[in-house]
Amino acid sequence: MGAFPLISHLLVGLVVITTCYANLISELKQYAYTRSGSQNEEVTDKQNNGLLIPIPREVSDWPVIPLPFLGQISGVSINLQGHPVIFHRGKRVWEDSSFNSSFIFQKQNEGAIKDDTILTLDRSSGVVIESWGANTFYLPHGLTVDHEGFIWVTDVALHQVFKFSPHDKKAVLTLGEAFTPGTDIQHFCMPTSTAIASDGQFFIADGYCNKRILKYDTNGHVTRVYPQEYEYLSFSTPHSLALLEDHDTLCVADRENMRVVCVDAELHYKPVRVNDQQALSIHASDLGRVFAISSLGELLFAVNGPTASIPVQGFTLSPYRETILHSWAPISGHLENPHDIAISPNGTELYVVEISPNRIWKFQTSQWVNLFKYTYAYMPLEK
Ligand SMILES: *[C@@H]1O[C@H](CO)[C@@H](O)[C@H](O)[C@H]1NC(C)=O
Ligand SMILES: *[C@@H]1O[C@H](CO)[C@@H](O)[C@H](O)[C@H]1NC(C)=O
Repeated sequence: MGAFPLISHLLVGLVVITTCYANLISELKQYAYTRSGSQNEEVTDKQNNGLLIPIPREVSDWPVIPLPFLGQISGVSINLQGHPVIFHRGKRVWEDSSFNSSFIFQKQNEGAIKDDTILTLDRSSGVVIESWGANTFYLPHGLTVDHEGFIWVTDVALHQVFKFSPHDKKAVLTLGEAFTPGTDIQHFCMPTSTAIASDGQFFIADGYCNKRILKYDTNGHVTRVYPQEYEYLSFSTPHSLALLEDHDTLCVADRENMRVVCVDAELHYKPVRVNDQQALSIHASDLGRVFAISSLGELLFAVNGPTASIPVQGFTLSPYRETILHSWAPISGHLENPHDIAISPNGTELYVVEISPNRIWKFQTSQWVNLFKYTYAYMPLEK
């Protein structure tokens, strides 16, 4: 007796130490992996052997004079002149009683929203320079200005998507049947967002109930539905779309799955489709429910909404590294219920709109930072 218990203790100790060591090594590897972020070497910025990202800073004195009454602001995009265009709900509010369990809008008898729902604000002063869209919409959601200046909107009560001419504000394309949800490709069910390629192909996120993305050719015919049955992919409230056109990638704010998913947009014919069945996914513990995304080159700018105790803030994401690069927030207050985001094509101006409180934030991104000067893969909140 005596020796055996000692040896067994030693053995147990050795196993414990080995396990801890293995865990430590795997954590260190994880850390090194996160730091280098070198999953896709080819997207690394050639100039600096790193990744230059713009840092958003709030423009605190914008707008210079208070805006007129605004309801819940659900959409924002930037027009060809660089001015933000917003979509708001006037006096209408989305409540639990707005829809029944068949997704049918219950306030149709209250009529369309009487206020102008689409406002263009001057980019330097924030003053309203144009407004329209009264007596047309029932429950505004997404708004996107395309490369030719056409304004695309979705209305979740109408279950429709519209494309308006920038000049006379006439609908040149109407998709879906008014107040009639459906699951075939002629119908939507509370569509949320649109993304339009420069060649005229476009995507519609459909939406709260069908949880699918429809892709259209330039003539408005459906050419693809995401996900297809064989694809190992499913969405839970695809809430916002962004195209990374140079990379032929479509990204989806997959809100209730608390992630951003990016798929092959298939805008261009490729003999071999590299992304087939392997969507990119950004799924991080502090991302929470992602409400909206907007693209800049190979980057995405995103806002989350209230999710348990996770801070509500802005994020800069890299789809190709499948990671958060940076998080940011305004200086003069807090984001509470951000609903949409838009960044200008050269990345210098960024807008976030919110629902309760109904407001719009402007950010500028004068400073570009080389990410790899920093110790951590993503930088702490800029204050
Ligand atoms: C970015 O675009 C805006 C117009 O939208 C222009 O006024 C500004 O000078 C541009 N900035 C840079 C750095 O290119
Ligand atoms: C939802 O409302 C519509 C019309 O308001 C009605 O026809 C339909 O039966 C309702 N569905 C349910 C499940 O109550």
